Amino acid sequence: MLGNLNVSSIGLGCMGFSHGYGDGPEKKESIHLIRQAYESGCTFFDTAEVYGNGSNEKLVGEALEPIRDKVVLATKFKIDDNTSTSSEKSVSQFIHAHVDASLKKLGTEYIDLYYQHRVNKNIPPEVIASVMGELIEEGKIRGWGQSQATEEEIRRAHSITPLTAVQSEYSIMERKFEKDVIPACEELGIGFVPFSPLASGFLSGTIQKETEFKGDDVRRVITRFDKNNIEANQPLLDLITSFAHSKGATPAQISLAWMMHKKDFIVPIPGSRTLERIRENLGAAEVEMINNEFQQMEKELQNVQIYGDRTDEDIAKLKEIN
Ligand SMILES: NC(=O)c1ccc[n+]([C@@H]2O[C@H](COP(=O)([O-])OP(=O)(O)OC[C@H]3O[C@@H](n4cnc5c(N)ncnc54)[C@H](OP(=O)(O)O)[C@@H]3O)[C@@H](O)[C@H]2O)c1
Repeated sequence: MLGNLNVSSIGLGCMGFSHGYGDGPEKKESIHLIRQAYESGCTFFDTAEVYGNGSNEKLVGEALEPIRDKVVLATKFKIDDNTSTSSEKSVSQFIHAHVDASLKKLGTEYIDLYYQHRVNKNIPPEVIASVMGELIEEGKIRGWGQSQATEEEIRRAHSITPLTAVQSEYSIMERKFEKDVIPACEELGIGFVPFSPLASGFLSGTIQKETEFKGDDVRRVITRFDKNNIEANQPLLDLITSFAHSKGATPAQISLAWMMHKKDFIVPIPGSRTLERIRENLGAAEVEMINNEFQQMEKELQNVQIYGDRTDEDIAKLKEIN
């Protein structure tokens, strides 16, 4: 459960079909893959208005149209920091215009989970939360969330309109939210949805120093994929691979099983554009870790240093090199 929403234990991040990882498959193939994910047990799908400038919402909406009432559909709105949102009324107007545009592109009458894509530093979380309460009352959304929020932002927002889920980067390589955000979600009954749960593919073990990234692929600029860091992080992959072999699983599956073992309100949304990998990732739900194995993995992970990360600031540099 994510708040009051019942979802499959692993979702599908749909961003890569139109955004962030270089060219995706043709539209027809993408629609087929999204529907195949549902056929393979996935009922939770993630998009955002900014992915492919709206084209990703259109794609996901079309793919889910025949099964709309059987899935949980999440999308996000983003308010640029330089947008004029001086009054509460202007914030409300902005968000109402954006939710209506998303509903239209998705071809649906309601959004199950509507996230603020980044918490704005110049708009109090309470103001956003209050508008989310209006949207829930209007029946446009069923629940709402924040992305990359701090514990304080979560608590402030939640006190006005309870949050359904927080979506933030979380994986074996990025654990900063374990300290405060995940415990706060547990305390408040909020779901936690890790994005980039495979560290943008690194944890699958399929990326080498020689791998070339093209176009809008964020791995051209995030430091986790600096050639030196790919090499320096090899001991981490060796560790995960050895656990994977002992469980008859793949490194990607172990990386997902690890986080799902932690808390039942953690629902990762890996993204892939091949059926084989989509099924592999969903199959992580069948990889059961017993406590001893999990504790052993945690212990060994403590001795491994992680190099590089994924930041919005680095991703913004893509514009300069494209
Ligand atoms: N809220 C936010 O700010 C935010 C930010 C980023 C992402 N997101 C959401 O979170 C979702 C997931 O993030 P992400 O796409 O970065 O997650 P991810 O699953 O960590 O990384 C996706 C990358 O890993 C590769 N991959 C996935 N499964 C694989 C496997 N089993 N074996 C080998 N390679 C594999 C994919 O390649 P192929 O596609 O080529 O298979 C793709 O390049 C996105 O789709 C988006 O919906 C949200």
